[in-house]
Amino acid sequence: MSKRNKLVKFNDLLHADNVYENFNPKSNVLTIAENKELVMKGKWNDLHFKNDQAITLELACGRGEYAIGLAKKHSGRNFIGVDVKGARIWQGSTTAKENNLDNVAFLRTRIEFIDEFFEKNEVEQLWITFADPFVKERKENRRLSALGFLDRYANILKKDGLLNIKTDSPILYYYSLDTLSEHKRFRILYHDADIYRAPFLMDDLEIKTYYEQDHLKKNKTIKFIQAQLID
Ligand SMILES: C[S@@+](CC[C@H](N)C(=O)[O-])C[C@H]1O[C@@H](n2cnc3c(N)ncnc32)[C@H](O)[C@@H]1O
Repeated sequence: MSKRNKLVKFNDLLHADNVYENFNPKSNVLTIAENKELVMKGKWNDLHFKNDQAITLELACGRGEYAIGLAKKHSGRNFIGVDVKGARIWQGSTTAKENNLDNVAFLRTRIEFIDEFFEKNEVEQLWITFADPFVKERKENRRLSALGFLDRYANILKKDGLLNIKTDSPILYYYSLDTLSEHKRFRILYHDADIYRAPFLMDDLEIKTYYEQDHLKKNKTIKFIQAQLID
């Protein structure tokens, strides 16, 4: 993307009323359109969605294709895509606007800080699709299913809330099965190392992000794990 294009997109983000950004990781203040500052923790439904529908987060959402796909299927639920990359969030924000999806918003931050922006029990489901596998062992703590991340997810999920992980990476898949088995607050409900060889567990698995389409073209198998917060 050219520098000018990026600048135009960042300028649009400043005006988007469905994108919240965190510029200071030491504070949980978020900035939205026209530089308005808000603390959203515990208040996403009151201040943004203005209803009491269950909230699902798509973590590392990229262009937000899963959040948008789920929002189209489930108008009675709210969705928030989270990613650190502004240009990708811009695409998701624009698509949500073009499709009049009032049940989708975006949060630009690092997922390391996710529990600064959501209250205990505020989230019903998490989706992580095609996260970077960080294949080198010395970087495994950066994988989004590392124990430190699972602790943060447990801080914001409701009891019985679901964590859904879709990946093409055998490393991330088996690593996630290990960390979820080890974590005292999660129980694995379902896992499948090749979801396309049989009917899907649920319709929501039909949604394909840019990365999933690319992996399928390369004949990679797509893996899925669903875990539940048990306590
Ligand atoms: C391979 S892309 C997948 C995007 C999307 N889920 C999809 O399937 O198209 C990984 C995304 O994770 C984001 N990401 C990775 N680590 C992150 C972190 N710690 N906090 C926020 N975003 C992160 C990157 O910015 C990137 O957009």
